[in-house]
Amino acid sequence: MAYAIEMLNITKDFPGIRANDNVTLQVEENTVHALLGENGAGKSTIMSILFGLYQPTSGTIKVKGKEVTISDPNVANQLGIGMVHQHFKLVECFTVTENIILGDEPKGKFGTIDIKKAAVRVKELSELYGLNVDPYAKIRDISVGMQQRVEILKMLYRNADILIFDEPTAVLTPQEIHELMHIMRNLVKEGKTILLITHKLKEIKEAADKCTVLRKGKCIGTINVKETSEEEMARMMVGRDVSFAVEKDEAHPKEKILEIKDLCVKNVKGLMAVKNFSLDVRAGEIVGLAGIDGNGQTELVYALTGLCKAESGQVLLRGNDILKLPIKKRLDSGMAHVPEDRHKHGLVLDFTLKENFVIHYYDREPFSKHGIMQQDEIDKYADKLIEQFDVRSGQGKETVVRSMSGGNQQKAIIAREIDRSSDLLLVVQPTRGLDVGAIEYIHKRIVEERDKGKAVLLVSFELDEIMNLSDRIAVIHDGELSGLVYQKDVDENVLGLMMAGSLKKVEAVV
Ligand SMILES: Nc1ncnc2c1ncn2[C@@H]1O[C@H](COP(=O)(O)OP(=O)(O)OP(=O)(O)O)[C@@H](O)[C@H]1O
Ligand SMILES: [Mg+2]
Repeated sequence: MAYAIEMLNITKDFPGIRANDNVTLQVEENTVHALLGENGAGKSTIMSILFGLYQPTSGTIKVKGKEVTISDPNVANQLGIGMVHQHFKLVECFTVTENIILGDEPKGKFGTIDIKKAAVRVKELSELYGLNVDPYAKIRDISVGMQQRVEILKMLYRNADILIFDEPTAVLTPQEIHELMHIMRNLVKEGKTILLITHKLKEIKEAADKCTVLRKGKCIGTINVKETSEEEMARMMVGRDVSFAVEKDEAHPKEKILEIKDLCVKNVKGLMAVKNFSLDVRAGEIVGLAGIDGNGQTELVYALTGLCKAESGQVLLRGNDILKLPIKKRLDSGMAHVPEDRHKHGLVLDFTLKENFVIHYYDREPFSKHGIMQQDEIDKYADKLIEQFDVRSGQGKETVVRSMSGGNQQKAIIAREIDRSSDLLLVVQPTRGLDVGAIEYIHKRIVEERDKGKAVLLVSFELDEIMNLSDRIAVIHDGELSGLVYQKDVDENVLGLMMAGSLKKVEAVV
């Protein structure tokens, strides 16, 4: 079989770290080839080299048998290579078509841009691959799943036939993931070759033919997916056995920490997104909030944390109404928050790791004294978190967060928020983009925080995570509470029905 891509003996050095160490990756034409590896193993780096974003320190690249130098993404495009990045690169206030043609605009009369012609082509491509995208919709108005399809169309519009997907499913709902796997198989049928980075072994099993495993920059091996079990892949990746189940004892909940009463919240379009929502979370329990993305979870969390205003209702934290408090006051009164969007609300990307760690507390003892920051204390604290949570980066606490791998950025936020002294731990999609080893650790820590007496509200689109961690499960559908049950009383099918709004069951009220 012919190779679409050969990356031979690729090494890439960054300040303080060898991100790729003599990696060889050979991808057969017309296949889905997965890349698996821990957070920071060098997956995004090697794909960025293939896309011309970075130059390798050494090594050769062949595209369809011919040696090439991919000096920038335009060269990659000319070679038929396209990439959907871990964090999308779309202009929010542009339409779908405007985004797709950006940098490759079809010329109309008198030097104008022929948007109509482009939109027709976008529509044709969208139909050919079953993508169902509206060429004239604005990016900010469409779901994350749709935005991703726009990224896919961007590649197809440029006639790419080698498509790189960097963690495409981390931001998708289970339904969207299923559709994406289908789209990938369609693309391969139409003659494309796909490189897929994912942490989800199930997806590799479902969609990939071959899988190359990286660990700490080195290539561990390439396997035939059909012949390898999920456990074996996990072991190759982290170098030890990984437990997929979460060990925890029964919860012993105590007093109510968070009380949400008849909360109503509007979304950005002015429509009611959360409707008379009530829910309590007690000290020493994990309440999972399940639901399909877009059913009011985001607005609910925004209203709790102060990122948007509520229309009516009450939110009590230890008995005090916090709804009118500004964000910082809410956090100071005992709330820790792992936000859904790590770049928008979780980190200051151009600050260093240690600065991000003390972002809530830089003005207090021990990190400040008499208005002067105490670097020694900050350094000590940063080193502690880095070690405990295994946050990997090139220059330790001095690393600028923007240069860290996606999963390690996420670990940094979780470390900071879990370590804060709070009564309520509000975590949204905490393990998005994390490798199986890191997920195992974070889940263990969340259970530990519960056992120390924190109230945990876990918002997640992943049913496995909800089922594994929660003591009680609340379900939100169309902004309303459609379910409230004890975890041990339900299975995924019943949850699915409640998430779809075809079953209502509110019984685990405390
Ligand atoms: N532009 C950069 N400057 C400095 N260091 C970098 C840069 N990009 C990546 N690194 C470092 O290279 C290593 C590999 O990062 P990479 O993003 O390739 O990991 P990854 O396998 O994609 O991880 P994840 O699963 O978390 O996305 C990391 O330690 C990261 O900190
Ligand atoms: Mg990555």
